[in-house]
Amino acid sequence: MPRLVNIGCLAACANPAGQDDIGLMRDATLVWRDGVVRWVGPAAALPAEYETEPAWSAEGRLVIPGLVDAHTHLAFGGWRAGEFSDRIRGRDYLEIAAAGGGIASTVRATRGLDEEALLARALEFLSGMVSLGITTVEAKSGYGLDPETELRLLRVYRRLDEMGPARIVATCLAAHVVPPEWSADRAGYVKLITERILPAVAEERLAEFCDVFVEDSAFSADEARRICERGCELGLRPKLHVDQLSGGAGAELAASLGAVSADHLEYVSEAGIEALAAAGVVGVTLPLASLYLNQAPPPARALIDGGVAVAVASDFNPGTAPSYHLPFAMTLACARQRMTPAEVLKGATRYAARALGREGEVGSLEPGAAADFAVIDAPNVEHWLYHLRPNACVATVSGGEIRHGVLREA
Ligand code: NIG
Ligand code: FE
Repeated sequence: MPRLVNIGCLAACANPAGQDDIGLMRDATLVWRDGVVRWVGPAAALPAEYETEPAWSAEGRLVIPGLVDAHTHLAFGGWRAGEFSDRIRGRDYLEIAAAGGGIASTVRATRGLDEEALLARALEFLSGMVSLGITTVEAKSGYGLDPETELRLLRVYRRLDEMGPARIVATCLAAHVVPPEWSADRAGYVKLITERILPAVAEERLAEFCDVFVEDSAFSADEARRICERGCELGLRPKLHVDQLSGGAGAELAASLGAVSADHLEYVSEAGIEALAAAGVVGVTLPLASLYLNQAPPPARALIDGGVAVAVASDFNPGTAPSYHLPFAMTLACARQRMTPAEVLKGATRYAARALGREGEVGSLEPGAAADFAVIDAPNVEHWLYHLRPNACVATVSGGEIRHGVLREA
């Protein structure tokens, strides 16, 4: 039973309640077996039965649960750097999309790549994420928008999960936008999703969640309801992109559909916040997307004060968030969303796991949870998120195995 000793400060994130309760312990020890945490607590209280086990040293550093990125669009073809410059020059995101750029341009590039090429690209991104301390990644399809390419993307996620650098939780986002070939027949595309794509995804068990981008430029509330209800029948729980570019009562819709999370929320209303809190829907905030789109950030303080568990994720995608640097997104959540470092850590661990239906399994260090953790070269959480560095993570461990960096024997 391996042990990690000499932990200067450990954030267990074991309490389901309290956005800022990260369960800090000084001088801690962590014990695991077969990839699962057995014991965690102050070194002085370590039960004698664990004292002779092989031990690694955290060398006085900060130890956190492996980070959980609860919202990414991990596999896609091409990039859209030109649009980045266009937006800086004043062109609007939706204007670019209406002219055939945006999501449609990534769909073209993605359809042109086979499974091996998509896997190689996504694996490289994933390796970078693991080096930052991330051990669980939600990954959406949504750049295929036809049965063949949507399934190809989800098969890439299954293979990545089996390869094991990180745990992958897959979401079918066939309802990202209506693809150009269906623009004259929206109802036909919704039917393609409900009658062919979702049943095929469920049949192969390629995803756990079903996502819809609810926006004037994407899908209406009625269309989202039809898609999510079909997803539920097939065992795919809903997650929704809502209230990102305009306020359309998307949060209320997510609550009424029993979604596990409502993501973006830049334009969420007071009524939306109340609905999320009442239904226990996690609010997933995506600080890189609001930064890159030069938008006011989502009202994280009002969400927290209103009783919503707030997660923080990267939204990694080639359009609105072309970076998988979750720790950077976390620092942005502090600076722009006025969340404290402790609140943000809870949002990128335990509450992110809740947004994936994995609370207590990942995103916390407590007996029975996965031995997924990161050793951070900082004295505490506050200092880590304040002093932004290219990478402060010195080791990432998933299922008790070192996936990045090194740990010295104690
Ligand atoms: O989460 N909002 C919709 N989807 C992505 C952006 C996709 C893109 O621009 O390629 C998002 O921001
Ligand atoms: Fe997204």
